[in-house]
Amino acid sequence: MIRISVIIAASLLFITCRPAISATHDDVDRKVEELLSKMTLEEKLGQMNQLSPWGDPSEIASAIRKGHVGSILNVVDPEMLNAVQKIAMEESRLKIPVIVGRDVIHGFKTIYPIPLGQAASFNPELVEEGARVAAIEAASVGVHWTFAPMIDIARDPRWGRIAESLGEDTYLTSVLGAAMVKGFQGSDLSDPSSIAACPKHFVGYGAGEGGRDYASTFIPERTLRNVYLPPFEEAVKVGAATFMTSFNDNDGVPSTGNKFILEQVLRKEWNFDGFVVSDWASVTEMIAHGFAKDPKEAAEKAIKAGVDMEMVSGSYMSSGKQLLEEGKITMGMIDDAVRNILRIKFRLGLFENPYVDTSAPPVLYAPAHLESAKEAAIQSAILLKNEGEVLPLNANTIKTIAVVGPMADAAHDQLGTWIFDGDKNYTRTPLATLKEQYGNDIRILYAAGTEFSRDARTDGIAAAVNVARQADVVLAFVGEEAILSGEAHSLANLNLQGAQSDLIAAVATTGKPVVTVVMAGRPLTIGRDVEVSNAVLYNFHPGTMGGPAIVDLLFGKAVPSGKLPVTFPKEVGQIPVYYSHNSTGRPYQGSETMLNDIPQEAGQTSLGNTSFYLDAGFAPLYPFGYGLSYTTFEYANLRLFSSSLKANDVLTVSVDIANTGKYDGVEVAQLYVQDCFGSVTRPVKELKRFERVPLKAGEKKTVTFTLPISELAFYNIDMIKTVEAGDFNLWVGTNSQAGLMTSFMVE
Ligand code: BGC
Repeated sequence: MIRISVIIAASLLFITCRPAISATHDDVDRKVEELLSKMTLEEKLGQMNQLSPWGDPSEIASAIRKGHVGSILNVVDPEMLNAVQKIAMEESRLKIPVIVGRDVIHGFKTIYPIPLGQAASFNPELVEEGARVAAIEAASVGVHWTFAPMIDIARDPRWGRIAESLGEDTYLTSVLGAAMVKGFQGSDLSDPSSIAACPKHFVGYGAGEGGRDYASTFIPERTLRNVYLPPFEEAVKVGAATFMTSFNDNDGVPSTGNKFILEQVLRKEWNFDGFVVSDWASVTEMIAHGFAKDPKEAAEKAIKAGVDMEMVSGSYMSSGKQLLEEGKITMGMIDDAVRNILRIKFRLGLFENPYVDTSAPPVLYAPAHLESAKEAAIQSAILLKNEGEVLPLNANTIKTIAVVGPMADAAHDQLGTWIFDGDKNYTRTPLATLKEQYGNDIRILYAAGTEFSRDARTDGIAAAVNVARQADVVLAFVGEEAILSGEAHSLANLNLQGAQSDLIAAVATTGKPVVTVVMAGRPLTIGRDVEVSNAVLYNFHPGTMGGPAIVDLLFGKAVPSGKLPVTFPKEVGQIPVYYSHNSTGRPYQGSETMLNDIPQEAGQTSLGNTSFYLDAGFAPLYPFGYGLSYTTFEYANLRLFSSSLKANDVLTVSVDIANTGKYDGVEVAQLYVQDCFGSVTRPVKELKRFERVPLKAGEKKTVTFTLPISELAFYNIDMIKTVEAGDFNLWVGTNSQAGLMTSFMVE
């Protein structure tokens, strides 16, 4: 891709200041053992201790001097970081550098769309590039380690952290999560522009009951292995340096004390050799869980389970020695944890390059980074509706545009959640961009109508209707403030907040075409807003460059290509609703008896009925993978190269895709498979491949997918991962509910 070269050039400026130190595995292991052999117990426990230095700076300095701190988080001032590191490198006995962590989730300074938005691009290269840019910027101030990517499968839009996820699908999350790991870590972890990744939250956190944050999960082992674990396994395969445990207890066992996931799966089955950090105080939160009676028991359970580093709660430091003396833990356990941590510090080159070069040329908000963030925002936008081809707008014929809605000029809110370092002064909003790019030729009338998303006052709506009346088209920018999604921000009601729906309905009464542009942290139940709008462009909070991206899309300088990485429910009551649910005994057959179809005092019968809601039906508002373009695509001629395959064969399937509309565009072709019969019930469909296919107007291409049959393996009735012989259905199409279908057999 074009931008990658620019970004690499930008990063080179930075790289030249500090050399990369590549050491072989043997070298690293030797150094680790040598250092470990010199360490006291206190120094070992110190490596396992991560602090957030919000307390007395002199106490922290003294703790580092004594070797009691292995890592700090949440400091991003390069001078301060160098000062801290100087204490570790010059005043501590063994001169072990501290590793500096930070939540760099969707950009450091240059903010990209929230991860859920990036997932809508179905573009691993772009997602990798976003993580690379984030790494370059964060590393330039001295950050060594990000707590990302978040690869929790998220099937509940009430959960505020769905914003940080890559959506509901295991395969999409695996591919994009791995891309993020690669982007953060670069080709060599010791490269000064690389930062260690930390796939999180291990595991199941997204399945909290009722979509409430921190709530318990009940994921049986088969579902854990088939649905929730694969993205993490993929992250290990591409070399993720660290892992973070999750807050939830699954079936009664908090992840931070869960030997099965940490020892059995992560270490034994996947051979992970990086280190595991707890989540924020999740070691001592096992007391509130009722899983440990005090910090000492919490430390014991976490160390035994395999949590190498404790984030902020200090129980390893305070109880480690006593636990050892009492024989509750062994020195071998401590040594293993310290080995894992030191291994990553060596791989990062921190011993050789502990300091950040403050004289390096600035890379924050570099033009190439902003350009890349804009492209990401373009590819992340999903066109949900475009009645009468109201979009794209024609700049030559439109004389007046009415801009309404609280998100038109919300510099802070369009950045989304988890942007500790983003600065709203750099945000380009849609309103500002419209004025800048079209203000001379088109009259742009602005009346927000409501001030912010939760604003329930309706007295501003009349002014919005007034500007709508004078305009050729109304652009209604609605959505959610950034603070309504993210950690600890779950919602039970997913309608547009405040008076936003009233605003859209009111401007629609003018009869002017209404284009609703949503910016939100999650899928919202916007059925009624879609109905009264002529077009709907959905953006998960699009970041710093959201304005220019959206304006290019509205005026057709860019053509929408995003697809939903998560199902949109009609009603909250449909949740959980996701496309790859298991086959039921009475599957939906395409017809439903709805609430008002039932006569009064009808006799009770269930015959002929299937799994659906009387008042909401079966279908969601929009299915996974859905997204329109300004142009149209037609699929034809689906052909399998062989319809009878063996477990070690590779399936090859081709389809012709034609751009039958008037615009050049990109279609995300999606391949789904159904394993028709199994030793356990199987999902009705699973995404197995996707590809972005650029097509000029009128152009036709043959797209060929290859899929090793081994990728159809799943955990069977005996909990063994295997491909079961039998019949399979396969679809290739434009979303999870459309497509050409064929069948094949695995012998
Ligand atoms: C979150 C993590 C985050 C950590 C450090 C916790 O509250 O759950 O995702 O990385 O804080 O900020």
